[in-house]
Amino acid sequence: MTDSPKILLAITGGIAAYKSAVLARLLIKAGCQVRVMMTAAACEFITPLTLQALTGHQVHIELLDAEAERGMGHIELAKWADMILVAPASANTLAKLANGLADNLVTTVCLASTAPIWFAPAMNQAMYANAATQDNLAKLKRFGYHIIMPDSGEQACGDVGVGRLPEPEELCQQVLAFVARQRLVQHLANKTVVITAGATLEPIDPVRYLSNHSTGKMGYALAQACRDAGAKVVLISGKRVALPTPYGVERFNVGTADEMLAACMDACKAADVFIATAAVADFKMANIANHKIKKTHNQDTMTLELIKNPDILATIAKTYPRLLTLGFAAETQDTENYAKAKLITKNLDMIAVNDVSDKSIGFGSDDNAMTVFFAERYDEPLVQLPKAAKATIAAQLVACLAKIMPKKAVN
Ligand code: C5P
Repeated sequence: MTDSPKILLAITGGIAAYKSAVLARLLIKAGCQVRVMMTAAACEFITPLTLQALTGHQVHIELLDAEAERGMGHIELAKWADMILVAPASANTLAKLANGLADNLVTTVCLASTAPIWFAPAMNQAMYANAATQDNLAKLKRFGYHIIMPDSGEQACGDVGVGRLPEPEELCQQVLAFVARQRLVQHLANKTVVITAGATLEPIDPVRYLSNHSTGKMGYALAQACRDAGAKVVLISGKRVALPTPYGVERFNVGTADEMLAACMDACKAADVFIATAAVADFKMANIANHKIKKTHNQDTMTLELIKNPDILATIAKTYPRLLTLGFAAETQDTENYAKAKLITKNLDMIAVNDVSDKSIGFGSDDNAMTVFFAERYDEPLVQLPKAAKATIAAQLVACLAKIMPKKAVN
């Protein structure tokens, strides 16, 4: 991303298009270079001349425009952008892109661009709630597009509900925050990141095992965020994780903590960053029974002899001190002290702690809230990440890692 971020603002047909004029102005004032492309329907709501006057540049409308093809045609436009923001994004444009259609300039440029693409859906509340629109949004998210949630409230048509385009100031702040994060995460581009995720399974006998409730959501969200930052990602996952492997991520399934350690030791030989989100069983069976353990009639209790598992994170941090390491701590009390102690004893660069006594975050939930501590040598203040979707928390953690990455090399 260049010093002055290049934002390609795509306006599609909806009454909220008038807000895009203010947005273009705010982005320019904030130091962005802004170019505008519009669909034919958008031109019914706001004139291209308005946007041309505000940005000082010709507005792009036609897909097949002999003039434009000699100047800035659709491929050049797609390559020019550091980021594309489709605001407002109509149900029609969302549906087209969810299905890979490219029948106008906006959809063609979106398909032809490798830049991050953000959609700000805005439409009548019933259109927004429609199963087809929701399905298209879910599909677009899966494809790696970013969605800005619409606001709720009174709509131009008189309805009340979800579907309003957020105010231009809010959209502008989101774009600027994203641009800042993108700049930071460039430190992770082309780095190799190894991530552990999910629960380990420790066999008791051929049919039973010891495990825990970890679903792997945080680790998988981090894998996706690191991939978005341009890193090569190797995911060492508990084999019972039921999540799809994020696109472009190499995944290895493992069972026990010992298997997870062996896979990590191997993958970390060529890595730059190690992130341990896995919930590793602290203990394993001293001896795994060869046959199913049978209950006997006069037996009311049973004792299993357990021995300690290796600490994967501490072992990796010790074996490969050049790796930037991020550990996690799930605590129910005195979170700060426990996290800081782990940071030191496991010799980590960063630790993220969450309070799992709050059931709305942590294991299995889609949200999380964390506090991040850095090793003392970085002289960085703690970072509070308020409750948000795990994908958002993951992107913020990646930004934290990227921030200390350049300092790691000299430590
Ligand atoms: O010591 P504790 O289990 O609380 O530490 C949690 C952190 O250490 C997490 O990042 C977890 O993935 C990692 N860990 C590990 N191997 C273990 C236990 C924990 O990598 N055996």
